[in-house]
Amino acid sequence: MRAIIVDPSAPAGLRLADVPEPVAGPSQVLLEVHHASLNQGDLNDARSGRVAPGGVLGSDAAGVVAQAAADGRGPATGARVVALASEAFAQRSAVEVSALAEVPPSVDLAEAAALPVAGVAALRALRAAGAVLGKRVLITGASGGVGRFAVQLAAQAGAQVIASVGSPSRGEGLAKAGADEVVIGLDGVDEPVDVVLDNVGGPLLVAAWELLAPGGSLHSIGWTAGEPAVFPPYSTVGPPKSLTSFLNQGEAGGELATLVQLVAAGRLAVEVGWHGPWERVAEAAQALVGRRVNGKAVLDVRPAAG
Ligand SMILES: NC(=O)c1ccc[n+]([C@@H]2O[C@H](COP(=O)([O-])OP(=O)(O)OC[C@H]3O[C@@H](n4cnc5c(N)ncnc54)[C@H](OP(=O)(O)O)[C@@H]3O)[C@@H](O)[C@H]2O)c1
Repeated sequence: MRAIIVDPSAPAGLRLADVPEPVAGPSQVLLEVHHASLNQGDLNDARSGRVAPGGVLGSDAAGVVAQAAADGRGPATGARVVALASEAFAQRSAVEVSALAEVPPSVDLAEAAALPVAGVAALRALRAAGAVLGKRVLITGASGGVGRFAVQLAAQAGAQVIASVGSPSRGEGLAKAGADEVVIGLDGVDEPVDVVLDNVGGPLLVAAWELLAPGGSLHSIGWTAGEPAVFPPYSTVGPPKSLTSFLNQGEAGGELATLVQLVAAGRLAVEVGWHGPWERVAEAAQALVGRRVNGKAVLDVRPAAG
């Protein structure tokens, strides 16, 4: 079958290749992948060697169950599902039943494919922040995949949402998505915030920390800035507040079920800023790294499917 593998000599460090068919374990379905979505983490996996050269990349997939799990659990053959699983960028992928959720007929599979890494990270980070009703929640990198989901989820949870982006065009649609304020960097944000969901790191993380109110929490989800965060002397001394690391870990079936239900109910919009066949994955990677994707990048693995 075809899959996107790590190749350090290829553009963006990845390319399509022929690989062996996956073999599903007893608690796994064999998923026929129709759509996948590209994450910064996939590019980091390729660059860092976390996935070795020749290994299959990808975490986000949506498609149809080609073979149900042998242990009898999970969706039946033919069910439409979305999954957060390794080796997702392939025509077929073996996926733990606990790592997937069924997709209602009203939800487009291409949109479902955009949910796993970014949507689950937004949901889990927001839950880690606790109740946000009436609180000021700052979301950095709000133009991106995690950010656009986080803005919507925080607004629905009753937060006053401040969405930080790099330029006015990157902020398009965020007010409609529920942001009370859309700001460039942290321009004009003078009042303290109670929670920060940080996707950018570097100097913006330091500036966000300085805005954080006593008792507040900053959740470090990502570090797209790629620059160090240099804290001025004594900036970490004072009334207690916390900076906490974040990692998407553990099977995500429960969170995926929540997210697809929100999409089906019209309460969570999936903004797809780049959509094309998986043969163009290097172009999608360049757009993502170049900050030209508003929301998510979705790859069609099997274009005719819906
Ligand atoms: N810890 C975890 O388990 C976990 C899970 C999911 C994602 N992540 C990480 O969280 C981060 C956000 O993920 P995402 O899917 O939302 O990524 P994304 O779609 O690429 O969005 C990231 C945003 O960061 C901003 N940014 C600021 N400086 C940047 C730079 N130098 N290069 C690129 N972008 C820059 C961009 O917004 P502007 O152009 O508006 O500035 C961009 O929209 C990534 O680092 C990702 O790896 C971590």
